[in-house]
Amino acid sequence: MFITFEGGEGAGKSTQIALLADYLKTKGNQVLTTREPGGTPNAESIRQLLVEQREEAWEPISELMLYLAARKEHVEKVISPALKQGTWVLCDRFSDSTIAYQGYGHGLDIAFIQQLTNLSMNHFSPDLTLLLDIPPKQGVARAKSCSGQEVRYEQMNMDFHERVRQGFLDLASQHPKRFITIDATQDTDAVFNSICRTIDQAIA
Ligand code: TMP
Repeated sequence: MFITFEGGEGAGKSTQIALLADYLKTKGNQVLTTREPGGTPNAESIRQLLVEQREEAWEPISELMLYLAARKEHVEKVISPALKQGTWVLCDRFSDSTIAYQGYGHGLDIAFIQQLTNLSMNHFSPDLTLLLDIPPKQGVARAKSCSGQEVRYEQMNMDFHERVRQGFLDLASQHPKRFITIDATQDTDAVFNSICRTIDQAIA
């Protein structure tokens, strides 16, 4: 299965991805964890350009193209080959982040983003998307305490983060079969238990 984790800043995605990878491995599965933007050397270089720059560094359309370029590399060189070998792929963010951040957040036309995404991805989509939902004030505060160099999006204003959250919630209601929304204000164990229940059901 190809599972993506989505959510605003500081939702705890990377912690939960690591826990789920261990859980799946103990059940005898091969698991690959990866992230966006990133996942290949070229895409990781693009990541640096996107997440370490100052807020005004890119025109919104240039930024969109960089995300799509990084994603194309990632899908063709890492995600698809792993899925073909029967490996579970757990990915920290994917196309839904582009709709939420570049569409709802930066105001790019959503139909345009979807069109370009479909053209470049050939309708490739996750089997399951776990949305870790957290109020932006709480999430951004969490993220700021451990962000290092990757501060560009955290620095954006609260309205931006509220729009991004609304974007994810809208996507979840538009794709109820693919999305599971989890309350990420709960503690780590409670969030993980919800994820395990979802995965066990998916496996069954
Ligand atoms: P991270 O916070 O999950 O490490 O992701 C890095 C940042 O990249 C995050 O602030 C959101 C941003 N992002 C987008 O704006 N659009 C995208 O399509 C992706 C994949 C990430």
